[in-house]
Amino acid sequence: MDIIKELEEAKKMDASFENILGSMCTMPHKIAIKAYEMFIETNLGDYELFKGTKWIEDKAIKWVAKFMHAPPSYAGLLTSGGTESNITALWIFKKLGKKREVLVPKQAHFSFMKASSILDLKLNVVDSKYFMKGKDVRKKISGKTACVVAIAGNTPFGYIDEIEEIAEICNDENVFLHVDAAFGGFIAPFVSKKIFDFRAKISSLCIDAHKMGMACIPCGFLLLRNKEWIEEIKVKSRCTHTKFQAGLLGTRPGASAASAYAVMNYLGYKGYEKIAKECMENTEYLAILLDKNGIDYFDYELNLIAIRSNKAVDVAKKLADMKWFVGIDEENKIIRIVLMPHVRKDIIDKFVTDLRKVI
Ligand SMILES: Cc1ncc(COP(=O)(O)O)c(C=O)c1O
Repeated sequence: MDIIKELEEAKKMDASFENILGSMCTMPHKIAIKAYEMFIETNLGDYELFKGTKWIEDKAIKWVAKFMHAPPSYAGLLTSGGTESNITALWIFKKLGKKREVLVPKQAHFSFMKASSILDLKLNVVDSKYFMKGKDVRKKISGKTACVVAIAGNTPFGYIDEIEEIAEICNDENVFLHVDAAFGGFIAPFVSKKIFDFRAKISSLCIDAHKMGMACIPCGFLLLRNKEWIEEIKVKSRCTHTKFQAGLLGTRPGASAASAYAVMNYLGYKGYEKIAKECMENTEYLAILLDKNGIDYFDYELNLIAIRSNKAVDVAKKLADMKWFVGIDEENKIIRIVLMPHVRKDIIDKFVTDLRKVI
């Protein structure tokens, strides 16, 4: 078989964004795709060879730092996404603090389990149920705590933890605070009044351009309050044209930097705000339809609706048979619908018609 035909056949087996309702990724913006293609062969692991691409990466990091109100002392890394950013943050704070315990919210993303396994860190889960509260952090924080993790837009519900309050507590206790804004970072500033970025006394923050940032996969950012902290993970890089690397990956796609920088500049704050507002409008639209059909769901804060279901796996399976791909969280007994930019009202109409049949 001709290789292109084989690839086309394989692609047909993939789900289409017309039917994907449980993902935090979306179809990249067309300018992001164009930029990605332009820089397809570049390697940021060897940035001495790709000085122009490195320049673009620095500009993309600067854009995100300004967006997240990072102080002048900041440092930034372009990563492959939330998982790499979260692991890297904990790597740095373990080395800086020389402690092994990390406080995480109940609804923390599983990337923290990977970080715990790789870095031999003990995760201590804070008791707050759906989003993390300051008072519960205060009860758990101790002299053994290396770092606290808080989330701006948690994976199951899209809720934002009490970050300003938690930041005050961490500051008082001299403990690092990492904010996981992988999902919420590109939408919360436009639709929520809560402060989750460097205006609060946080130590680091991750934000993913390949989620609500509309860039191509893989692309996330990790920002640190203090540029000296990066020294903790710097290694000499022998046998490349570049002398030092800081970060988990070696070879890294420069195309990701170009894609993110292009879309951030093309859209600007105004463009992102428009997309954010449209996503929230569609979230409200889904909520109204669920109400009309007597389908129960949790209150929503961002563009994510968690539908209550005691038989989430069964319902999701039946939906998958009808080619609807939703998120499932058995522990929370929910089906997650993420109203990403590709989820339009006509898709929501068709989905609710089918959901009614199986829930
Ligand atoms: C809150 C949060 N953090 C981190 C991640 C991990 O991001 P990635 O899959 O890009 O590594 C996710 C993924 O959905 C997430 O929802």
